[in-house]
Amino acid sequence: MISDNLLTKLNEQITHEFYSAHYYLAMAAYFMKEDLDGFANFFIVQAEEERFHAMKFFGFINDQGREAVITGFKDPKRDFKSAEEIFSLALEHEKLVTSLINDLMSLAQEEKHYPSISFLQWFIDEQVEEEAGMNKLLSKVQRVGEKGHGILMLDKELAARTFTPAAE
Ligand code: FEO
Repeated sequence: MISDNLLTKLNEQITHEFYSAHYYLAMAAYFMKEDLDGFANFFIVQAEEERFHAMKFFGFINDQGREAVITGFKDPKRDFKSAEEIFSLALEHEKLVTSLINDLMSLAQEEKHYPSISFLQWFIDEQVEEEAGMNKLLSKVQRVGEKGHGILMLDKELAARTFTPAAE
């Protein structure tokens, strides 16, 4: 049985993941406004991934016989200034999510709740990918700059991203 303390933290993670989806949609809106539809597509797909993450927590809590709690959250930032700013913020955000997942894993281990440990391992691995992906794109954007041919090539590359839920 999941303790009330662990349940509260797992439920909070649902909110963090839905907030991440909103944050990335706000970033997609900036790129749409800038006519960089490939970058916008990247963040729309990223938002779908975050919703998928939230639903994994939702499903796990229900599978454990407890009730998932859906709450609201603050407005995400808007008024972004550049692609570089956005990827810096996205990387910073993924690092925050990594620390939240790590804290959840520590709590599950403290409580010796093995189903949660097994469930959370997927997210530990996922966060390695999430941070690496944002880091790579931040480097690429810094290399090509905000204007010119390079950014359009990158936009074309990012237009190809599609949402494929990761395997269990
Ligand atoms: Fe749900 Fe991007 O971490």
